Amino acid sequence: MELPFAESWKIKMIEPLRQSSREEREEWLKKAHYNVFQLRADQVYIDLLTDSGTGAMSDRQWAALMMGDESYAGARSFFELKDTITRITGFEFVIPTHQGRAAENVLFSALVKAGDIVPGNSHFDTTKGHIEARKAFAVDCTVDEAKDTQLEAPFKGNVDPKKLEKVLEEHADKVPFIIVTITNNTAGGQPVSMKNLREVREIADRFGKRVIFDSARFAENAYFIKTREEGYADRSIKEICREMFALADGMTMSAKKDGLVNMGGFIATRWEDWYEAAKAYCIPFEGYLTYGGMNGRDMAALAVGLEENTEFDMLRTRIHQVEFLASLLDEYGIPYQRPAGGHAIFIDASLVLTKIPKEEFPAQTLTIELYREAGIRGCEIGYILADRDPVTRENRFGGLDFVRLAIPRRTYTDNHMRVIAAALKNVYDRRDEITRGVKIVWEAELMRHFTVKLAPAD
Ligand SMILES: Cc1ncc(COP(=O)(O)O)c(C=O)c1O
Repeated sequence: MELPFAESWKIKMIEPLRQSSREEREEWLKKAHYNVFQLRADQVYIDLLTDSGTGAMSDRQWAALMMGDESYAGARSFFELKDTITRITGFEFVIPTHQGRAAENVLFSALVKAGDIVPGNSHFDTTKGHIEARKAFAVDCTVDEAKDTQLEAPFKGNVDPKKLEKVLEEHADKVPFIIVTITNNTAGGQPVSMKNLREVREIADRFGKRVIFDSARFAENAYFIKTREEGYADRSIKEICREMFALADGMTMSAKKDGLVNMGGFIATRWEDWYEAAKAYCIPFEGYLTYGGMNGRDMAALAVGLEENTEFDMLRTRIHQVEFLASLLDEYGIPYQRPAGGHAIFIDASLVLTKIPKEEFPAQTLTIELYREAGIRGCEIGYILADRDPVTRENRFGGLDFVRLAIPRRTYTDNHMRVIAAALKNVYDRRDEITRGVKIVWEAELMRHFTVKLAPAD
């Protein structure tokens, strides 16, 4: 008999979970203004708000913490981290930052000015926020395939070369760089193929532009290239990473995802002029150049995390769990962005809550219903997160309206996946009774989803 698949690690430490009653959850929802970001974590049973900084570190990472060098300048932990990053990416210049958006803030402060246009594939919300806050514009050039959630295609995170070319033909003088997000979080954790990265490089070279990878989930992207793209099955994840990054000029990184740490980030680049320009912003915003917002011990744990998470078995274990949850949803007929992404399942709320108009935010309503049902906290990646158009101030209803169930790395078991799927099925079975969505009572101008206050629609 063939042995079944099992995790490539065993558990050394556990954290108890608390379940709650439906009455308690109803009360907590009201107090949180129907925004799950405003819940306390101990009011949540299974927390799928994000896979960012919520994973479990390995024994080797915990051991590395003890070896951290906390020197203000020139810490050994910085050089160990820098060497690891250079080995994995080929980028020589490295600036640590306290998380991914800080890397964006530092680098974009140097590169983006008012009126600029930054094309890419579904810019992540903080990336878009940092562009728009500088009165520049983020232009989404993702392939149209990503919009059809039921279409099975291997690389729905790709950049559409035609859309990118058009932006460059019309506005080349205003484009400071092209940004490619690997994997494409906003489009459902969908990967970008090596072929597509090569196409982007070719277009960029033709127009004399540089390319940045928003690399939060670069290792998962490499896993999908290995398992889905012709010609890569026999290549190691580390070889694929080197090949991917050879097609970019620099990267911003939220290390809280594929770096397997709870906090951290960095900028890395092959260009000294970018490094010099970013340096000037790192010191006032983040800290001195060899710690940039990170403890020495956190840099030490990150170096180990990057090494571990660019190994096939680690990635296979992770993606297998996401695919297992997807297989249960298939069984229950619940629609999600197909095929399952790297770090999360993205439920297509527009196909579930068909009685709720977009003005009443179906994905946010479904997020609330799932919490109400079983204390499971997902996250709306939809119309609320899309913010308003910076010029017209209208809601942006042009994109997809997802509930993202992000799976923290090495944290929950497959039995938790069964609970999540069953809770969703219960909501799905009573979907036609859910006829009232939510309305916005208060919102921030930018990145409103974190703090928005909602109430049941009239
Ligand atoms: C693709 C992508 N880029 C950037 C970020 C921002 O990183 P951080 O949360 O570390 O600031 C995230 C966070 O979720 C992300 O998913």
